[in-house]
Amino acid sequence: MLIKRSANGTEPFPSEITPREVFESRRLFIKQMALGSIGSAAFLEMASREAFAQGGQKLAARPNPSFVVMDKHTDYKDATTYNNFYEFGTDKEDPAKTAASMSTRPWTVSIEGEVAKPITLDIDSLVKLAPLEERVYRLRCVEGWSMVIPWVGYSFSALMKKVQPNSNAKFVEFTTLADSKQMPGLNSRVLKWPYVEGLRIDEAAHPLTLLTLGMYGEVLPNQNGAPVRLVLPWKYGFKSAKSIVKIRFVREQPATAWNRAAPREYGFYSNVNPEVAHPRWSQASERRIGDDGLFAKKRKTLMFNGYDEVAPLYAGMDLRKFF
Ligand code: MTE
Repeated sequence: MLIKRSANGTEPFPSEITPREVFESRRLFIKQMALGSIGSAAFLEMASREAFAQGGQKLAARPNPSFVVMDKHTDYKDATTYNNFYEFGTDKEDPAKTAASMSTRPWTVSIEGEVAKPITLDIDSLVKLAPLEERVYRLRCVEGWSMVIPWVGYSFSALMKKVQPNSNAKFVEFTTLADSKQMPGLNSRVLKWPYVEGLRIDEAAHPLTLLTLGMYGEVLPNQNGAPVRLVLPWKYGFKSAKSIVKIRFVREQPATAWNRAAPREYGFYSNVNPEVAHPRWSQASERRIGDDGLFAKKRKTLMFNGYDEVAPLYAGMDLRKFF
């Protein structure tokens, strides 16, 4: 599999360039920190807020050792230039080239449906909703490759606590941005837009389910699903919806984009499962992007991508039928 890198790999990303006033207020802040007049919790909070004011800037988070795989991290460059984000084109290098123009501010996410407290949150409120954690997750794409990425976010369950799903809520539907003015890929009919994904409510509530706002200590780059996406490390990558604008708690299993496009190939569950082949290729092994060269022996794919703690969610289910 060919991994394309950006042509000017030595130059900083535009988002890494900090305006002078921000730089100077940060210096003053660091000085105050050193003098002890600002505590570290306040520092984390302010750093997070500043990150969102600046897009692409640092996003402070505490590492959560309970959610860290020890594998080597994928290079930032590979993780941000080898992407699937069909709203920006179907080639792996398209999103890095064309997603930069997507405007991620202002951005709101409406949370609605079978909940006691529906709400529309702007991105700053989402950032502040729960303490940000850094979690290193493996992500396995249905195409047979994987990456290891330090994500920043918090368990989706924190958001559930805020809106309080009622007893009718059996599934959660995630709808992502579909704006043809900003997304050239919407001209293609490869999928029905908007991109929609769904989870059973107990999957959504599982602590591993990460509402994700950043990666590698920074705000999410647009091509990775800014400003907010999901990361579900035990499911094939396509379940991890990017650039979410609506979250709906519903009674029935939602129709999802890939399942609608090719129901025989992409099931609703899409748990990583080396024993259930995709109709056109095996899922028994994978290539780690950046690490395993084209001719290297592939790695064995693990059931649930190695996240055995989710197995009880599927106890008694025939995972060949519910693939
Ligand atoms: N979300 C949206 N909105 N559109 C997409 O095309 N692609 C999915 C998923 N989320 C996709 C999406 C697929 S197929 C994968 S493998 C992952 O995003 C890739 O995430 P990454 O580019 O951050 O590795």
